Amino acid sequence: MEDLDLRGKRVLIRQDLNVPIVDGKVTSDARIRASLPTVEAALEMGAAVILMSHLGRPTEGEFDEKFSLGPVAGCMSRLLGQDVRLERDWLDGVEIEPGEVILCENVRFNPGEKADDEQLARRMASLADVYVMDAFGTAHRAQASTHGVGLFATIACAGPLLTRELEALGKALKDPVRPVIAIVGGAKVSTKLEVLERLSEKVDQLIVGGGIANNFIAAAGHSVGTSLYEPDLVDAARHLVARAADSGSSIPIPTDVVVATEFSPTATPRTCDVDDVAADEMILDIGPRTAAQYAEMLRKAGTIVWNGPVGVFEFEAFAAGTRELALAIADSKAFSIAGGGDTLAALEMFGIADAVSYISTGGGAFLEFLEGKKLPAVAMLESRGPEGNK
Ligand code: 3PG
Ligand code: MG
Repeated sequence: MEDLDLRGKRVLIRQDLNVPIVDGKVTSDARIRASLPTVEAALEMGAAVILMSHLGRPTEGEFDEKFSLGPVAGCMSRLLGQDVRLERDWLDGVEIEPGEVILCENVRFNPGEKADDEQLARRMASLADVYVMDAFGTAHRAQASTHGVGLFATIACAGPLLTRELEALGKALKDPVRPVIAIVGGAKVSTKLEVLERLSEKVDQLIVGGGIANNFIAAAGHSVGTSLYEPDLVDAARHLVARAADSGSSIPIPTDVVVATEFSPTATPRTCDVDDVAADEMILDIGPRTAAQYAEMLRKAGTIVWNGPVGVFEFEAFAAGTRELALAIADSKAFSIAGGGDTLAALEMFGIADAVSYISTGGGAFLEFLEGKKLPAVAMLESRGPEGNK
């Protein structure tokens, strides 16, 4: 986008303004703040700025106030210091002058958005002179506003946020400073199997946490009591460990854990060795010895990729493991990137968001990038060639 002359042009920018809203108020404006510099840059270049985004997953063809971008327009107006007008009906064209900003109502109210419908994409493309794809968080979706529109726009290009995300993630994965350590936590192995497979070959150490780690603990022959885990995938975990060893990397398994007999903020924690989990106990965090060992690894890392907490950090009694790793990342000189909703919440909770080198706005898109998948919106931009012209 920065390479184009946008003076007097209508510029249609797809952003990811899909933020949490409670009672009509935006509760985390991180994605809005990350999107602002693009809007400001286009305004400075003299453009008329038309923004598009989705919010949540409404039913197509039905307006629903719950999924309105109204609160986002309000939040953005305040942050930008300029009115951002919400346009409810915009598909047949909008009236706008250079220097103005319009936010089109939720793209997912339009029938055909999800199916990447050609007619819808063409209508979007005809709104502007230039289409800018800047929604990294939605770049893994091939939908009318992220993909089709770019095929039919006279000029299509990447926006600065999308570019910065791809550069930061590329730096961490393509030719990283070693050793590279990835932390992959979260509830289910099944949703992260592909990312674990790919990372186990790329990184020097792969730290697993949360429900995912329980599969590896079970694969090592230990009882996990009533812990969340997926018995069908214990073999897959075993296979991953072997595969990592083949490529010279390792997937360490906790030597101690924090357990409780119930999943609750008031549960009584007990720290024990990993082979000492009772039948009625569940693992809710890594133990202090394991946390210290992982923290030491992180302090020596050249590159760190973090997606997912290693314990139930929302409950104070089980937050220590994730906190210790977060502080070690903050301490480390490594190039560090973090992504995913839970991870960002943990960073904010432990007050180290500023100490991470790069925080991605992507959740699913961040994971798909780590999996090595080509993001459809990026493929579309590449198909348009370096000039973005037909
Ligand atoms: C996200 O929050 O992950 C992105 O905005 C994409 O949303 P989606 O998963 O509903 O497509
Ligand atoms: Mg998602």
